[in-house]
Amino acid sequence: MDATSPPVLMGLAAVLARAEVLLRPPGRRLLGIAGPPGAGKSTLADRLVGELAARHGSRPPLVAQAPMDGFHLPNAELRRRGLAGRKGAPDTFDAAGYAALLASLRARGPAGRVFEGLAAPSFSRRTDEPVPGAHRIPPTVRLVVCEGNYLLFDSGAWAQLRPLLDETWFLRVDEEIARARLIDRHHRGGRSPSAAREWVENNDLRNLRLITATAARADYRVELPAGELD
Ligand SMILES: Nc1ncnc2c1ncn2[C@@H]1O[C@H](COP(=O)(O)OP(=O)(O)OP(=O)(O)O)[C@@H](O)[C@H]1O
Ligand SMILES: [Mg+2]
Repeated sequence: MDATSPPVLMGLAAVLARAEVLLRPPGRRLLGIAGPPGAGKSTLADRLVGELAARHGSRPPLVAQAPMDGFHLPNAELRRRGLAGRKGAPDTFDAAGYAALLASLRARGPAGRVFEGLAAPSFSRRTDEPVPGAHRIPPTVRLVVCEGNYLLFDSGAWAQLRPLLDETWFLRVDEEIARARLIDRHHRGGRSPSAAREWVENNDLRNLRLITATAARADYRVELPAGELD
């Protein structure tokens, strides 16, 4: 990384300390965690939400998630559009739908003081499909963790996301580590070892390089040393 790259949050303690800063002022903040496939964004977001809930209590909830992955187009729609072989690429998501959700998460209710209660979809690695309404985001939530690959993209509807996020982090990963994690994940998901390797080389790592090119747009770069989330 060069001199223009964002300041670094090194390790889980630094990440948690920064999240606490975002919780300090009144109101709601949207935090975006961007990064390539296999970087560990979903793992980090789960850990962050879990740790903050343990510190601050979860009733009523103060922290919730709205992952970009919930806006994967369904497999039937990808087949209809001839995109099934490129699942995970920028045009295989409903980017405008995600932007609309983030805009709603920022909008206050009719009284002007409370946020509307909303729900956000997630993505199931078991069924390989989006799951509507999986994350509840009641009006009490003051930090919404939004994680996904293309949060820092500036083309098409993706460009709407960055202005809707109060702060963005880029979770960096070594390409070799991401490759091993992704091959393992596709293998566990039912692909043969050679099909898993082929998919990762032709799809995931291409996306990884596109996404890595957006890293300098983030407010912070997150580095998680090996074993940090164990
Ligand atoms: N800090 C870490 N140390 C070791 N393994 C990790 C770490 N973070 C994630 N992993 C593992 O790497 C794999 C990918 O993690 P995860 O699903 O969180 O990545 P992701 O960035 O959300 O990927 P995608 O963009 O494809 O959704 C998982 O098997 C997870 O258990
Ligand atoms: Mg993920």
